[in-house]
Amino acid sequence: MIERIEQIRADGQAAIESAGSADALEALRVELLGRSSELTAILRGIGELPGEQRGAVGGAANRAQKQLEQALTERREELVGDELDRRLAGEQVDVTLPGSPLPAPGSLHLVNQTRREIEDVFCGLGYRVAEGPEIEHDYYNFTALNHPPGHPARMVQDTFYVDPASVDSARWDPDRHPASRPSARLGQERSEARPNLPPGPRDVLLHTHTSPMQVRSMELAPPPLRIIVPGSVYRRDNDATHTPMFSQVEGLAVDEGISLADLQGTLLELARAIFGPDREVRLRPHYFPFTEPSVEVDVSCFACGGTGSVGGRRDPLCKGAGWIEILGAGMIDPNVFGFVREFGYDPETVQGFAFGMGIERIAMLKHAVPDLRLFFEGDLRFARQFR
Ligand code: PHE
Repeated sequence: MIERIEQIRADGQAAIESAGSADALEALRVELLGRSSELTAILRGIGELPGEQRGAVGGAANRAQKQLEQALTERREELVGDELDRRLAGEQVDVTLPGSPLPAPGSLHLVNQTRREIEDVFCGLGYRVAEGPEIEHDYYNFTALNHPPGHPARMVQDTFYVDPASVDSARWDPDRHPASRPSARLGQERSEARPNLPPGPRDVLLHTHTSPMQVRSMELAPPPLRIIVPGSVYRRDNDATHTPMFSQVEGLAVDEGISLADLQGTLLELARAIFGPDREVRLRPHYFPFTEPSVEVDVSCFACGGTGSVGGRRDPLCKGAGWIEILGAGMIDPNVFGFVREFGYDPETVQGFAFGMGIERIAMLKHAVPDLRLFFEGDLRFARQFR
């Protein structure tokens, strides 16, 4: 009998030690120590044993029961501990690690990439980036830029006039823009924006170019001045090469002793930074009301290297000319300085140049984009090509 008890204990203990889960352990407890277990039966039967055996058998059975209970307890703790360790290992979080990177949130639109590229070139040349209001007074958009009254560019055919009462003045009032300085000349009455009357200086419109900031920035600070002005501009145009809204970057440099050669050198720097180190620029005479002389600026064609032909055929990009027009520019007309004389710009002592380029146009040339409208249609297949 004692040997059998010892057998039960040894087998039981071995089984407990190799039990792999809490469930298996519970099953073993029932089997080894439960009411219908062999050991329980032995303990119940002790009273029927011959007197001299009772002590030894009872002692052995009690010891076996205790040992098995203890083995169960220990194994249970081990199993619980293992499980906890496993869970801790699996759920380990190192809070000192940087967060996992967000899925790529997209990328800058080609227009903004190109704008930044242009800004970088001019920041490198010591220019400051300035922005003006999109809703502008006729005065800054036209009058002070030497567009004489009755100039066709001031007419509703070209321009989006705005009823000042219709705009949220807190946000859009051109007089409250950070680039504003109340100008004495703005005291004149507006013409009610009636198409049959010539517009007046206080009329309000979506600026048709970024040039109004030439005048605004000269009102704000005396020379020397070197700024570039990115902005969205608005014109009543709509076809494959014109959209009612497009983007420009204006440039303005005013100082003493500035000449057309400085303009050419500056634009050569731009052309080489954007279109490649071998580019040349040339200036062709042109007309703008607010520059004198005025020029259009061409860059030597980067498809044919300026020769006008690729593989013995006429280069389609420059149409065989070897040159591509990129922007308009000129020396500031002294009449424009006349509008800001009181702010330190004496036309007798300061000179300056200005230029204005279409950002989409630069991007179209550089990336061979065939249609201007692709920039504004929001088609991801287009946008993703320029990530
Ligand atoms: N504002 C002119 C335009 O939009 C471009 C320009 C800017 C020309 C500066 C000369 C000087 O066409």
